[in-house]
Amino acid sequence: MTNAPLIELRDTTKKYDDGPPALAGVTLSVAAGECVAILGHSGSGKSTLLNLIAGLDRPSSGTVTVGGTRVDRLGEAGSAKYRRASIGMIFQFFNLLDDLTVLDNVLVPAQLAGMGKGEAKQRAVELLGSLGIDRHAKAYPQRLSGGQRQRVAVARALMNKPALLLADEPTGALDSSSAEDVRRLLLDLNSEGQTILLVTHDVRLAASTARRTIELVDGAVERDVVNDGSSAGMPLTRPAGAAG
Ligand SMILES: Nc1ncnc2c1ncn2[C@@H]1O[C@H](COP(=O)(O)OP(=O)(O)OP(=O)(O)O)[C@@H](O)[C@H]1O
Ligand SMILES: [Mg+2]
Repeated sequence: MTNAPLIELRDTTKKYDDGPPALAGVTLSVAAGECVAILGHSGSGKSTLLNLIAGLDRPSSGTVTVGGTRVDRLGEAGSAKYRRASIGMIFQFFNLLDDLTVLDNVLVPAQLAGMGKGEAKQRAVELLGSLGIDRHAKAYPQRLSGGQRQRVAVARALMNKPALLLADEPTGALDSSSAEDVRRLLLDLNSEGQTILLVTHDVRLAASTARRTIELVDGAVERDVVNDGSSAGMPLTRPAGAAG
């Protein structure tokens, strides 16, 4: 029996209107437990790639398979269900609901998934505790610092124990000390086995957080390398799409 990758894209293309494709024939696979950085200039297709993997958008051609599910074939309801069950997402600008307390923000995914109230609250409080923000549970997001808000967003993303955590520029709006906190948090989560795709412009963030870096140029995979250790030595190049 072979070990199927958690994420597999085959010749995946996304075209909007008549411009050049946002994603142009991407083939790649990611194993469970990897932390992979997606690097590339603005407009290179990074968010498009995450959106296709999250089932928020559909490819124009090619396939997207996550955990054995053909995400590109899901309808609207199926894709919402898939996201609730399998995907946690964090973004540059947190996307928290300002009218809800920290605790209630974290509870939203559990409510959508129909988790029992007691169980949900217990998990939310545990998560907030492990992220060091439990004392802000009753505060509203506006009252928190950027780094604290991003921790709330991480707690919310982890609420339903997603197989896959997708992070789109999670440190892009943070000062350097909060960014470092979030970076460590992602490292810790990955060391506990969480699979993470981390989109960033920041080469140093990518190198210090992820063992593998995929670089997109004009919607295509330009590089797919494993950084071994912390040295700036020769990366181990491997062909795009080769499983680890
Ligand atoms: N909904 C859309 N409609 C039309 N074009 C789009 C849409 N979303 C993205 N694009 C185009 O697809 C290309 C890739 O966009 P994408 O958002 O994936 O880039 P990105 O690498 O995430 O950039 P950034 O670093 O600025 O976030 C861009 O040329 C963009 O203009
Ligand atoms: Mg983007």
